[in-house]
Amino acid sequence: MKNIVILISGGGSNMAAIVRTAQAQNWAKQFNAQVSAVISNKADAKGLAFAKEHGIATAVIDHKAFADQPQPREAFDAALMKEIDKHAPHLVVLAGFMRILTPGFVAHYEGRLINIHPSLLPAFPGLHTHERAIEAGCKFAGATVHRVTAELDHGPILAQAVVPVLPNDTADTLAARVLTQEHLIYPKAVAELLTTT
Ligand code: GRF
Repeated sequence: MKNIVILISGGGSNMAAIVRTAQAQNWAKQFNAQVSAVISNKADAKGLAFAKEHGIATAVIDHKAFADQPQPREAFDAALMKEIDKHAPHLVVLAGFMRILTPGFVAHYEGRLINIHPSLLPAFPGLHTHERAIEAGCKFAGATVHRVTAELDHGPILAQAVVPVLPNDTADTLAARVLTQEHLIYPKAVAELLTTT
């Protein structure tokens, strides 16, 4: 079985879209694949309840618990890797996982690690993408699914979706429009990877 481990920090709507698509398209039969775990760095991440309701294993590795270590980021990533590797993942899917990962973590999952970012990369890597797109006067915005490499939000692009930026858009209205597209392209990109890897 090809195990998929999804990392979240919050609402988990992209994770939920992947889980729903996996069920609707019967990925177990079609690709011999399953979402085997959802892991969060925040205990109050709303998406954890959805995962539990769908019979998926969940775990929380709180990054704050590592703050007093000499190398907090490395220590957190090591604990996270240990938890992820219990599931021998075929794919590790970052879905609103709000942590910068260490080079060691990225190297460990090379070829198996993907992310979704709410902009048309390479435009607007990093945070506050929707505010920045509006501020720059962009007529279009969107989302990008990409492989994760050591440089933040810079890996090879697997899929993109484009939406218009409307005259009265706020960051919130634009984010909502982009998010509906994220829910379509992320499950599709994962399914494509399951057919080709
Ligand atoms: C999405 O816009 C994603 O692109 C970004 O954070 C948001 C997460 O939303 N990285 P959700 O947790 O999947 O609902």
